[in-house]
Amino acid sequence: MLEFLTRPYMMAFWFGAFTAVSLPLGSMLGIWLKPSARIVAALMAFGAGNLLSALTLELIEPAFVHQGFWPISIGCVLGGLVFVGLNAALENSGGYLRKASTLVAHIKKHKREKMQALLSKLSQVDILRALPPEDMHHIVPSIVERFFKTGDIVFRQGDPATSLYIIENGRVRVQTADTGGDQKTISELEDGQTFGEMALLWNEPRSATVECLEDTMVWEIHAQDFSALTASLPRLRDAVTKLAGERRAGNQAMGLMDAQEWKSIAIKNIHEEDVRPSAAEMSEVMHKEGGGNAALSMWLGIFLDGIPESLVIGASMIGKAVSPALIGGLFFANLPEAMSSGAMMKKQGHSTGKIFWMWMSLCILTGIGALIGNVTFHAVPHHLHAVVEGLAAGAMLAMIAQTMLPEAYEHGGWLVGILTVFGFLSALMFRAMA
Ligand code: CMP
Repeated sequence: MLEFLTRPYMMAFWFGAFTAVSLPLGSMLGIWLKPSARIVAALMAFGAGNLLSALTLELIEPAFVHQGFWPISIGCVLGGLVFVGLNAALENSGGYLRKASTLVAHIKKHKREKMQALLSKLSQVDILRALPPEDMHHIVPSIVERFFKTGDIVFRQGDPATSLYIIENGRVRVQTADTGGDQKTISELEDGQTFGEMALLWNEPRSATVECLEDTMVWEIHAQDFSALTASLPRLRDAVTKLAGERRAGNQAMGLMDAQEWKSIAIKNIHEEDVRPSAAEMSEVMHKEGGGNAALSMWLGIFLDGIPESLVIGASMIGKAVSPALIGGLFFANLPEAMSSGAMMKKQGHSTGKIFWMWMSLCILTGIGALIGNVTFHAVPHHLHAVVEGLAAGAMLAMIAQTMLPEAYEHGGWLVGILTVFGFLSALMFRAMA
């Protein structure tokens, strides 16, 4: 019995399961201790640094020394591609809910797509096209969509001014009362046209009544946002002043940039901070999308993060004893990952028991993965060992870079750089002492 339990592939299983014990352990610590995001980020950065050097020293260096540059490099590239490909496939089915970093990336992508669609429509708006497209990303966050039914009055002549409106689609009638008190239509406005600028600009009551002639969708910019925007974007102020002046004087249109060119420059100028999700947006997505099948996708996502780990253990044990530095590195890297995911799942409404078993099953699967890795890798011809080791290392490197470090940086800021260095050195120290 003992002989069976200590066979090389069984040892791979034990070591795999051992490194992954930190998963259920970490998830429970995350739920019970509720560590601050900064502490988890700090641990994550340390773990990532530690793993990076353990990988380099224990897996990459020996393969490089024995078989040279190409086998390990080919393996690394393949491993990286496999991880990135599987990760992208999971992204679309809710796997992004597994970590704060993957959730942030997912929301950013969606916000960017929404902004692109909005900019594409805004490229039809006269006063905005008069603006340099590089400045559009300042305006987009201030825009609120509003719907009016046929016959609705958006505002009446003499009302105080609260907003500027741009017609997304629909048609409105602008009318004023003549000296006899009768309503007289002075203009009809449609898609891409602006109204409500005069009163805002000149701090006056509304000069006319605006009524919807059909169901109309508008973009509304509140007075406060309008003041801030015109103060920081003189060209917007000029464009609006020009429009209002022309209207008042009854003059004609402005010279405009081609809509297509305008749109492409505006889209290129969407900045990182324009799509960064707020805490409220993150929790909204977690609550809206965190139930039902999402748990399975999340589990698959975490499973995916565990595949490189199983491969690394399996590969590191081909023909040699396991490296304690690598096992320790993996153990400590898993801990903060599970802490943050465990706490997130709890927030998404999953029970503690369900979370525990979800992670426990992954712990056993990591062991099985390491066992399978070890058996398969043993069957690989000797000259391909470095490729296999590279494959495991590449997948792991991609995982560290794509999910661990961004997650750590999100909450740890500058601390992450220095703790990654300490983590890196800790594996070196371990080796120096061994
Ligand atoms: P404001 O005075 O805030 O409210 C009424 C709006 O009607 C006014 O801003 C303009 O946006 C719009 N408006 C006034 N005169 C004209 C016009 N001649 N042509 C088109 N729109 C107008």
